[in-house]
Amino acid sequence: MYALELDSLPVSATDLPSAVIQTPGQPPKLQVYSTRIPPLRVLQKLHGGRIRKLVLRKSSPFHLRIGHDLLVTSDARSVPAKLRSLPRLKIRAGPAFGTGEHSTTRLCLRYLIRFLTVNRISRPATEVLDLGCGSGILALACARLGARTLGWDNDSSAIQEARRNADLNRLTHLSHFQEADALRDSLPRADLILANLYDSLLLHLLPRLNSHRRAGSTLILSGILKGQENPLIRTARHLGWKLQRRGRLGRWLCLQFCSS
Ligand SMILES: C[S@@+](CC[C@H](N)C(=O)[O-])C[C@H]1O[C@@H](n2cnc3c(N)ncnc32)[C@H](O)[C@@H]1O
Repeated sequence: MYALELDSLPVSATDLPSAVIQTPGQPPKLQVYSTRIPPLRVLQKLHGGRIRKLVLRKSSPFHLRIGHDLLVTSDARSVPAKLRSLPRLKIRAGPAFGTGEHSTTRLCLRYLIRFLTVNRISRPATEVLDLGCGSGILALACARLGARTLGWDNDSSAIQEARRNADLNRLTHLSHFQEADALRDSLPRADLILANLYDSLLLHLLPRLNSHRRAGSTLILSGILKGQENPLIRTARHLGWKLQRRGRLGRWLCLQFCSS
């Protein structure tokens, strides 16, 4: 896998998967990914930046506990005894984004779990749409709590990874993953919409969600750096979404809206 690293890029400039990478003390970077160098070279000619070969790191076992409701782990064999009774989700440390180690994913996990547990919506009836599902971590967390979930990603390798994780967790009956572009393909309706992407993509996405939400739908947006939230909140308000919660972890924010 290769990444073109840029300071910024108009969201419409590429169909390739991308993510905003935040390193403490440094300005955010946009990484555009491809398994081949030539498509990145085309972008590099237009926008500059640097192409790097990505080396997959072998991480140490990772356990993330969200209250008493879920344990996300990269290695079920090394779960400490005191955490073994929690509902568990195993996520491989694979090539797709979403092991639970990034703040944007953690914030989303907290919010969606609160939504599914505190709101006491009849869980089997809850339909969740996860836009930019990566490893499937958010969709599968919802499925683990009983919701029916659909995950979309425009990167075919992420979809393969999400399906592998669904198999690994025996959640294929509640989760479905498909390669699709959140900015182009026709969106299905859902009770809970999750989008851990980045601010400019979220701004383009918001108007598209309008005709696809249900009355009472909840929307959780993540991948937003502190200082980027106001245009998103204003646009969402203008489109009829009411801000319910705003959370922060380091420099990252997560916003929860409900549809009026
Ligand atoms: C920041 S990762 C989030 C992964 C996971 N949902 C999580 O919370 O950890 C964003 C994902 O969105 C995908 N993505 C980017 N643009 C997209 C688009 N237009 N449509 C669908 N997926 C997109 C990327 O391939 C990447 O897997």
